[in-house]
Amino acid sequence: MRNDLKAAIEALTGEMIGWRREFHRHPEVAYGEEWTSAAVRKILEGMGLPVASCAKTGLRAVLEGAAGGPTVALRADMDALPIQEEGDRPYLCLNPGAAHACAHDGHMAILLAVAKVLAARKNAFKGKVVLLFQPAEERTPGGANPMIEEGALDGVDAVFGLHLWQSLPTGVLGIVKGPMMAQADDFRIVVKGKGGHGSMPQLTVDPILVAAQLVVSLQSVVSRNVNPLKPAVLSFGSVSGGTIYNVIPSEVTLTGTVRTFDAALQRMIEGRMRTIIENTCRAFGASAEFRYQEGYPPLVNDARMAEFVRETAREALGGDRIKAIDPVMGGEDFAYFLRKVPGAFWFFGMGDGMPHPHHHPAFDIDEKALPPAAFHMASLVLDYFDRGGKV
Ligand code: NI
Repeated sequence: MRNDLKAAIEALTGEMIGWRREFHRHPEVAYGEEWTSAAVRKILEGMGLPVASCAKTGLRAVLEGAAGGPTVALRADMDALPIQEEGDRPYLCLNPGAAHACAHDGHMAILLAVAKVLAARKNAFKGKVVLLFQPAEERTPGGANPMIEEGALDGVDAVFGLHLWQSLPTGVLGIVKGPMMAQADDFRIVVKGKGGHGSMPQLTVDPILVAAQLVVSLQSVVSRNVNPLKPAVLSFGSVSGGTIYNVIPSEVTLTGTVRTFDAALQRMIEGRMRTIIENTCRAFGASAEFRYQEGYPPLVNDARMAEFVRETAREALGGDRIKAIDPVMGGEDFAYFLRKVPGAFWFFGMGDGMPHPHHHPAFDIDEKALPPAAFHMASLVLDYFDRGGKV
């Protein structure tokens, strides 16, 4: 147990909560993270770290320890969601129409605390820490790939990141070896019929009826075409068409998402969707435009690195603080970092007393999660250096 490190993090608790609340007050959506980026840069520069811009509003800072060790990258995402915050709290957000409803404010505060305690110990370890503050996690195609293209992972031996997680109790860490988060695709179907008077359906091709058939029949893809032992989701997110009760519109638009862990399964689902859409439309004399957009790939943890995360968590937090969890169908563009460099991503519980799920307008975090999350991450980095990068 690294008692001095733990004490240093605990002494930073007030500052960490202060950072998090300032970020919470200034939510900015994908690539609009101007205020946030300037605030993070100022804090990092205050620690004496060189900071470079990366992927527009993102940042890459480097913390050099003694020479001759490995390089580890740590990532925090920075963006908020385009939703209006609800509920009361002493740190209400100031920007209308944006809210930190996915805890990215907390991720930044944790990474800053890790940077601060490690910067104060840079003569005591052999290695280099690359701090990545990433824009635009919430909006595909995401900020991770542009950061990688601009060299964020150059010379990096391992990459780690976390997500604060509402469905885990505060202070509990959950991680999966292998695939942990899904490929997250989206689709849009525009059903085209022939509009007319609601009293004379025989003169129309009703796209509302066709869209309704599609909503039902596309559910058969997951229930009838997918191996029940393989996870897959097909959900609709919007149905829009028509303006008034007595007019049959000429178009209806459906949008939705498909989640899988497996590229072959994803292609099969897309193909089955296309067949059902084309043939259903033909049966009713309608036509459709179908656009299927691949999103973030599945997030796959390196098995050995995931075990290393568990080992370091057992040491830093205690064995009872680690929970075996199932993979989730949510998407996360940290997946791109893991495709380039071995590493791992984990969930850190902050759910005590927090009833609202991620992306809910009244979402908030139990700030008691911040110190243990930072302590574990800083310990992991030091353990990684102690082992010379051989985990
Ligand atoms: Ni998130």
